[in-house]
Amino acid sequence: MNDPPVPGAQSPAALGAASGRGARGILHKDWDRHVRQADELSRTPGFQQLRDRIVSCAAPRPQEQVLDVGAGTGLLALGLADRCADVWAIDISPAMVEHLRWVVAGRHVTNVYPLLASAASLPLEDAALDLVVSNYCFHHLDEEGKRQAASEVYRVLKPGGRFVFADMMFGWSPGDGRNRAVVSAKVRALAKRGPAGYARIVRNAFKVLTGTGERPATPEWWRQALEGAGFSCVSIECLAHEGGLAAAIKSR
Ligand SMILES: C[S@@+](CC[C@H](N)C(=O)[O-])C[C@H]1O[C@@H](n2cnc3c(N)ncnc32)[C@H](O)[C@@H]1O
Repeated sequence: MNDPPVPGAQSPAALGAASGRGARGILHKDWDRHVRQADELSRTPGFQQLRDRIVSCAAPRPQEQVLDVGAGTGLLALGLADRCADVWAIDISPAMVEHLRWVVAGRHVTNVYPLLASAASLPLEDAALDLVVSNYCFHHLDEEGKRQAASEVYRVLKPGGRFVFADMMFGWSPGDGRNRAVVSAKVRALAKRGPAGYARIVRNAFKVLTGTGERPATPEWWRQALEGAGFSCVSIECLAHEGGLAAAIKSR
């Protein structure tokens, strides 16, 4: 296993204690039980296209230091390894990190460093990175967690550094046309699965009502949060589905 080469980064063992599990802002889901599911999701055409969109928007350069937040089984981190100098791949789940270390070793990739850490507390020095990317991680944090993550990303970026991520971007309020379209498409897709799908609709509705499920934020919420964290040149593109692609720059 690689030791973290960025001065000031903590060892993975030290991070275990401070990985943010149970911290304010972090929602509770046992990601260790979902490694296979996350890996399967990362192989779907939808996620592969999303990876390509993020990489193309991020425009990585060979000398750059990069971080993937909520790296999971490495969709983005591995996709960037050939295009930049070093890729830090942080995830809150020990099993995801172990899995990614195993993949990295098996493929003889020498510049991807999986680390156990929370998006809300990054184990990297100030102004250490050129680029931070993320895919489908932030809707697992509540608003406070998302804001903490945005300000942590701002802290670890060099002046002029870029932040590019995709995530679910819609809200539950039925007053907004995009929210209505996204939610009704999800309900229709589940209903097509018959009784199991209806049960899922009920479970999901319960989670939304009790605030225990996923926490997507709207594109407008993200714009304000990114600007509030200090970013400039914020752009947010709503994708054809529930997702959005955000890009922002830490001013020089
Ligand atoms: C849906 S998976 C996406 C994984 C990967 N980015 C991809 O595109 O395939 C979400 C990932 O975010 C991680 N995650 C969730 N909450 C996190 C947090 N607070 N900090 C860091 N990682 C987190 C999970 O462990 C999981 O690996």
